[in-house]
Amino acid sequence: MINMLTNYQTRDLQSLIHPYTNAMAIKTTGAHFVEKGDGIYVYDNENKRYLEGMSGLWCCGLGFSDPELIEAAKLQIEKLPYYHLFSGRSHEPAVELAEKIKELAPGHMSRVFYQSSGSEANESQIKLAWYYNNAKGRRNKKKIISRKKGYHGVSIVSASLTGLPYNHKDFDLPLDFVKHTETPHFWREKIEGETEKDFALRLAKSLEELLLNEDPDTVAAFIAEPVMGAGGVIVPPESYFEEIGKVLKKYDIIAISDEVICGFGRTGEWFGSQTLGMSPNSISMAKQLTAGYAPLSAVAIDNEMANVIEEHTGTLGTFGHGFTYGGHPVGCAVGIKALEIYQERNILQNVRNLSSSFKSKLNSFSDHDIVGEARSLGLMGALELTPNKTPAPFKEPGKVGAKMASELLNKGIMIRAIGDSVAFCPPMIITEQQLDELFDPVKKALDATRDWAFAEGILD
Ligand SMILES: Cc1ncc(COP(=O)(O)O)c(C=O)c1O
Repeated sequence: MINMLTNYQTRDLQSLIHPYTNAMAIKTTGAHFVEKGDGIYVYDNENKRYLEGMSGLWCCGLGFSDPELIEAAKLQIEKLPYYHLFSGRSHEPAVELAEKIKELAPGHMSRVFYQSSGSEANESQIKLAWYYNNAKGRRNKKKIISRKKGYHGVSIVSASLTGLPYNHKDFDLPLDFVKHTETPHFWREKIEGETEKDFALRLAKSLEELLLNEDPDTVAAFIAEPVMGAGGVIVPPESYFEEIGKVLKKYDIIAISDEVICGFGRTGEWFGSQTLGMSPNSISMAKQLTAGYAPLSAVAIDNEMANVIEEHTGTLGTFGHGFTYGGHPVGCAVGIKALEIYQERNILQNVRNLSSSFKSKLNSFSDHDIVGEARSLGLMGALELTPNKTPAPFKEPGKVGAKMASELLNKGIMIRAIGDSVAFCPPMIITEQQLDELFDPVKKALDATRDWAFAEGILD
């Protein structure tokens, strides 16, 4: 098989380690090269067109060829291709973007700190929470509560926050100051007779028990994505964040909203915490902050945290944290333009307008033999594939999801398999007609996947 690989596929295998890839499996298939973008489509190197149903990695909300974003990057790279914010230096794009973030974010955010990636943003979050508590003399308040199936990145701390086994196994993680609480997945985790509200209350109670077991005076923060993305697009039950918020307030725990996916319109509001009633003290953002056109992430913190932290830098003489590329001027210029476009082209309104038809199209597959649950919010959703419409897994977990993704790929649709769930997160500029294009091949792909699973003995 190896001799069927193209020149670049061979060179790829000889030169790269691919993230989230079985390196042995791609030795026979080779990597799939994507060459160019056009609106919500990308083309591979055989000029085959795909509707990019995942916005790349949940980031390219404005598609893959926006001329205004390209122009913003070009102008900035010509004017000032690099500068940093260390030692009191600054540049105008960094300030303008921070002001815009403050204006849009919920919860009276008062300061913005930049990094390049979502993982780094969450890394900063934990350092800020520790620094803040140390400044207040609360030196034992260090533990962080995260959630099973939450995704917060892959650096050592952010991967520890992540609650997915493959991010921990053989990386010697999670670090032990991170404690994981329950996943707010009603369909999978509810008990007989429980309503969504009962379930939310039970999860809040479970969080409180965890806090009491750990001693709340040793817990600094709770981190959550408003909608869990990489854990399978899990939309929390009604009143979940309201109930969780009460517990966090009671024990003086910082609430961190990880808006790396949900931020900037994905759920129909600027931030997922607004859609879902979460009241954060600090927010992580990345991805759609620049519509994916430049690497940039930001952490916004509220007034109370900002005051304490700023004062403490005065005591210590500096703030000993910062990344070379944090607040990169090209990233900031692209970010300013992306936010301007979201506003001027009413992108959030497009998400709101399309979200019910996105939901009903996904729900139309609910009756299929191998669909356990269809779920969505805004323009992010998933079909969870299961053998008998209950949460019980397939005999060989992961294979059915992967087969479904490859069936759709053959039909010109790029989506992402997350175990046996398949996720959909199209660019927010998608039209109603293009939504049909995205979902039209799904029924046939489900049929083909089910037939294959029978033939393989994965389904009886
Ligand atoms: C919610 C969330 N947080 C953090 C991250 C990590 O971001 P990055 O891959 O840029 O480090 C991701 C990535 O998908 C994410 O979805």
